[in-house]
Amino acid sequence: MRVLAISGSLRSGSNNTALLRALREEAPSGVEVEIWQDLKAIPPYDGDDDVGSGPGAVEAFRRLVRDSDAVLIATPEYNSSVPGALKNALDWASRPLATNAFRNKPVAVISSSAGAFGGVWAAAELRKVLGAMGARVTDAELAVGRAHEKLDEDGRLADDDVRQGLRDALSTLLAEAFSALAA
Ligand SMILES: Cc1cc2nc3c(=O)[nH]c(=O)nc-3n(C[C@H](O)[C@H](O)[C@H](O)COP(=O)(O)O)c2cc1C
Repeated sequence: MRVLAISGSLRSGSNNTALLRALREEAPSGVEVEIWQDLKAIPPYDGDDDVGSGPGAVEAFRRLVRDSDAVLIATPEYNSSVPGALKNALDWASRPLATNAFRNKPVAVISSSAGAFGGVWAAAELRKVLGAMGARVTDAELAVGRAHEKLDEDGRLADDDVRQGLRDALSTLLAEAFSALAA
């Protein structure tokens, strides 16, 4: 079972990426969590470039999604919505719509922000976008508010409730992925 983990933040010190590293530690045996690092390499969507297999970074991203059994996205919230770079990568991945890499893909969305609400609006919008793409969006939910306070000085998760939330989100996602495989 292969889970592709995507952070919506490009920052090297990203709290969302730190959550994905903690989630990877919680993966049961037989489950490989791969954290995708190439969001910044995806060019702005341009229909003129969306021919054949598209730009190299886009082709690689689409293939990675296709080859994964499930996808988990950890997103920050920018101006009450999804960060542009992440939305842009999903726009590329969504074409062609009928056969796009996310169609029927089990997906979980979690979020974190510096504010108290943990990026709930970004997560809700992201679920809407993924649903429009035809992904199997699970009802896993985890919104981590004041995320910087939940990490230690080395950027490691230091909050048991959040760690349990990560375990729960991963287990919901894996259940959906196993049921998709069995179908
Ligand atoms: C352009 C921009 C807009 C933001 N808008 C919001 C927002 O609407 N709500 C919120 O809770 N945090 C907002 N933030 C704060 C981010 O959620 C915070 O910086 C978060 O830690 C970023 O995630 P990261 O640590 O994974 O990079 C914004 C930050 C930026 C840079």
